[in-house]
Amino acid sequence: MFDSQKFIEEKVEWLKNTVGNKKTVVALSGGVDSSVAAILGHRAIPDTLTAVFLDDGLMRKNEPQKVFEIFEKLGVSVKLCNVKDEFFGALKGLTDPEEKRKAFRENFYRVFGKVAHELGAEYLLQGTIAADVAETKAGVKTQHNVLEQIGIHPLEKYGFKILEPLKDLYKPEVREVAKALGLPAEIHDRRPFPGPGLSIRILGEVTPERVDLVRKATEIVEEETKDIPCFQAFAIAMGDRATGVTLSGERNYGEVIAIRVVQSKNAVTAKSVELPWQVLKRIEGRIREKIPTVTHVLYDLTDKPPATIEYE
Ligand code: XMP
Repeated sequence: MFDSQKFIEEKVEWLKNTVGNKKTVVALSGGVDSSVAAILGHRAIPDTLTAVFLDDGLMRKNEPQKVFEIFEKLGVSVKLCNVKDEFFGALKGLTDPEEKRKAFRENFYRVFGKVAHELGAEYLLQGTIAADVAETKAGVKTQHNVLEQIGIHPLEKYGFKILEPLKDLYKPEVREVAKALGLPAEIHDRRPFPGPGLSIRILGEVTPERVDLVRKATEIVEEETKDIPCFQAFAIAMGDRATGVTLSGERNYGEVIAIRVVQSKNAVTAKSVELPWQVLKRIEGRIREKIPTVTHVLYDLTDKPPATIEYE
């Protein structure tokens, strides 16, 4: 039986002993994993820890502000860094999923290297969990937050040492720890949102316009499924175009958006959720109304395996 209180005590001690009086930056996205890492750090080394949220332009609507406010209420001040140009620049022209993921990871750590240097920090605390490591090591897909386990030395390459207190836990245990730490339900029950954000929900090249498209569709999917029990619910810009026809009979050659809603315990396997038809039709209608360039809306029926949860 996993004992979350014991885990918290052990990791707080470990962080204190490992870090001593050196400065640390925690990479905070507001997801349950990085939030738990941040609060453990806040308990262990409050005076030498800085929480940093990278506003990379690939987040959902208002996400940076929401995370800032949640953590302010918890007594943790968050430094928001606007790094949109760096990330769009790093992803420009890339269409291969693994190339995109590696470029995201590279830029993520390069930016954190800069932030750590500016703050005089020696350590980067991050919320990497066991599923992230397993999937990256298995070669299924490169998760943005795995380095040492695949032979990349953070100190040599980016100038900091890494702290990963959650690297042996899966999502259900992380949620238990989040509850035990007193994090609000909006964090401990939060649906996972991947580190590379909307970039891996856009097949092909990531541009600000395509991020805007998938962000709008995502907002609708999340609103319409907020009371439906599921692990994740989101939209994907398929990259393909398909022919439509407007109500006045004109040709419309537009975007194809897919909707994915899955149930899962630990993200290792997942089942696609049988959504009520009315919900699906409402999503489809609202997406077409809000984004007139969309001609087709599809629902993904595939489980994991054989699919993965995210599209890239
Ligand atoms: P897949 O697509 O591999 O996703 O079935 C499994 C779970 O991991 C999330 N995911 C990520 N999380 N960095 C993250 O922090 C990543 O690079 C990443 N890629 C996928 C995904 O949202 C799902 O919950």
